[in-house]
Amino acid sequence: MAGIRWPPEDPEIFPFDKDVPDSNDMGPPMLGMPNYHQDGSYAEYLANFQERSHADDCCGVLDIGTGSGRLLQQLAKQGFSDLTGIDHSEGAIEVARNLAIRDGFEHINFLVDDVLESKLERRFELVMDEGTLDTIGLHPDGPVKRMMYWQSVAGLVSPGGILVIASCSRTKDELVQEVESFNQRKLGAMSSEGAQASDAAVFKYIDHVQTYPSVDSSCITTVAFSHS
Ligand SMILES: C[S@@+](CC[C@H](N)C(=O)[O-])C[C@H]1O[C@@H](n2cnc3c(N)ncnc32)[C@H](O)[C@@H]1O
Repeated sequence: MAGIRWPPEDPEIFPFDKDVPDSNDMGPPMLGMPNYHQDGSYAEYLANFQERSHADDCCGVLDIGTGSGRLLQQLAKQGFSDLTGIDHSEGAIEVARNLAIRDGFEHINFLVDDVLESKLERRFELVMDEGTLDTIGLHPDGPVKRMMYWQSVAGLVSPGGILVIASCSRTKDELVQEVESFNQRKLGAMSSEGAQASDAAVFKYIDHVQTYPSVDSSCITTVAFSHS
């Protein structure tokens, strides 16, 4: 199965290639829309992705910490069919399954699974995380859990695939620094085998966008990384 090509030949595939206006420059109607981040920016991103890259032919999608499964329903509406959502909460998965059945998306695969010790036996070309790494970081052992997260997710993204993380607790620079630290740890672990830095660069920064779900909410930073 082919990986996702990056950078895209057509820059319109990813609207967050474009400069994102500062919040002060964005009109109130846009900012005031409920769920702007999920139903606005993501919807545009997904529509372009599906339309221009024929993603359904090449793209298995995993949503980490899927919650109610809203993001996967958005993808299903865009024509994606190979969709999997995991959450360590049995209640969340039950809700996600019931909503998917109610809304006619029975084909979405929802599984109870802890991303830190995932039982999944396949990789995905597109892996998305909306707020889950943030949640994991709130654990008393947050720093350790975050390190475990990167190690686990590295095994879930296909070579050439893309990881997209939406966070309201970290800036783009902080997420990129965290990834670079992870890459360095991998290099350290591999150095005894004579590996080069390029061999260990598991995730590489691609691009990011900042969005504001509502007028009075904090900024959400969405960062895309490619997997080597
Ligand atoms: C902030 S919520 C976001 C839910 C959903 N992504 C959304 O945007 O609506 C975080 C979700 O991550 C799940 N979660 C937290 N830690 C997890 C873990 N280690 N493995 C899998 N899911 C986890 C929680 O149960 C929760 O549903």
